[in-house]
Amino acid sequence: MKIQHTVIAVVSVLLANSSAVFAADATKGGALYAQRCSMCHGDKGAGDGPVAATIPEGMKPRNLTETYKYATDDAKFKELLQKGGAGVGLSPLMPAQSDLKAEDIDNIIAFVKTLKK
Ligand code: HEC
Repeated sequence: MKIQHTVIAVVSVLLANSSAVFAADATKGGALYAQRCSMCHGDKGAGDGPVAATIPEGMKPRNLTETYKYATDDAKFKELLQKGGAGVGLSPLMPAQSDLKAEDIDNIIAFVKTLKK
């Protein structure tokens, strides 16, 4: 019995720590955003990056400070980044980020939230 309690205590400490070890980092996410997103969505997310100018009206990148069509919660935002626009019924011009680790995706999402009004 004693040993079992010790094991349970150790496992709970490990579980508690593992969730504390990773907290999404908006600063790291911002660096990735600058490399992968701002050319379309703009530095401040207004949808006005240099590549956006080449995309026809009606197909423009979303203004990330405003309401989203699909990525309305973290799980759906993750899915959008993993599958790309085409994978969730949005424009294929919104590219998948499937080469990124889950942690990087969480960091990007944390950064994009700082752009919201
Ligand atoms: C090549 C240009 C391009 C790049 C690069 C790009 N996007 Fe997009 N993004 C788009 C377009 C176009 C849409 C609009 C899709 C639509 O309306 O169907 C969009 C839509 C979105 C949306 C709104 C989804 C919704 O549910 O309304 C989010 C959030 C988003 N992008 C985040 C990102 C993030 C984060 C990155 C970088 C990892 C990124 N995008 C990179 C073009 C791009």
